[in-house]
Amino acid sequence: MANQKICDGDYVLIYLDARRTYMLKMQVGQTFHTHKGYLKLDELIGKEYGEPIKSSMGIYFTTLKPSLTDYIMKSSRNTQIIYPKDAALIVMFSGIGPGSRVVESGTGTGSLTTALANYVGPTGKVYTYELRSEFQKNAAKNLERSKLIDRVEMKSGDVTLSGYEERDVDAVILDLATPWLVVPHAYAALRASGVIVSFSPTIDQVVKTTEALRENNFVFIETIECLMRSMQVERGKTRPNTMMTGHTGYITHARKILPLPIQETPQMQPQQATEPPQEAVEQEENSEEMAEEETA
Ligand SMILES: C[S@@+](CC[C@H](N)C(=O)[O-])C[C@H]1O[C@@H](n2cnc3c(N)ncnc32)[C@H](O)[C@@H]1O
Repeated sequence: MANQKICDGDYVLIYLDARRTYMLKMQVGQTFHTHKGYLKLDELIGKEYGEPIKSSMGIYFTTLKPSLTDYIMKSSRNTQIIYPKDAALIVMFSGIGPGSRVVESGTGTGSLTTALANYVGPTGKVYTYELRSEFQKNAAKNLERSKLIDRVEMKSGDVTLSGYEERDVDAVILDLATPWLVVPHAYAALRASGVIVSFSPTIDQVVKTTEALRENNFVFIETIECLMRSMQVERGKTRPNTMMTGHTGYITHARKILPLPIQETPQMQPQQATEPPQEAVEQEENSEEMAEEETA
């Protein structure tokens, strides 16, 4: 793809170093102040992404086009969010792709919604349910920023009580306190062989959710935890970083099946019931023959 130019209204990631990055909306006439001097945003508009820009103190910054991970990590947060390492696995387990229809709850900050909306593409849809309207408004702003809002339908309500309006969806994704109460509603919303994925910070939630999945015709039930260890890379000193995130949560995923027909127990004839199995009879006959041979 050819280099892209920065336009008025674009979100741009301003990079000083790996720890100092800023997500800014380009607006004519605006300046951005940092401890390394200020940047005139007018001067950025029309430049190519990746070009260096000099601050009023003569320090160079670089402009980057935000990636999906940048949008998630720079989202305005009012809840705990799903981090990219977990979002990546959730997307993979869910099996979603362009054109998929996905139900999600709760929306929270909308970080996972952003990832899901990215992967369902322009022909897919994410229906996301949230209890609290202030969280929903904030999530909508985050989704507008990443230009993914058109792929998302935001819905209000307590999903443990009212369930989902959608039917025959490809995947149901849960990140809320009581996922086990939502499992029957997820079953109703999913198409047969559709996928449920639930993210929970505690094992107690995982146990209750797994039990609910077993009771509601889900198979291939699996729970995993993803631990990510980053490396410091320098000749002669390459090793894992001392600090790491020890825990985010567990991911439980499963597939919906249609109820199995009730298994019929074969009726035994009274005569057969009293007869020993054929194999046993043969063995007994053999042992009689052997006994005869021994006494002869
Ligand atoms: C941990 S946050 C979700 C964060 C989200 N996955 C993200 O990446 O930004 C959990 C959200 O679920 C919502 N929630 C909790 N119980 C709910 C329910 N019964 N129905 C709908 N939303 C619920 C909470 O209000 C909260 O916003």
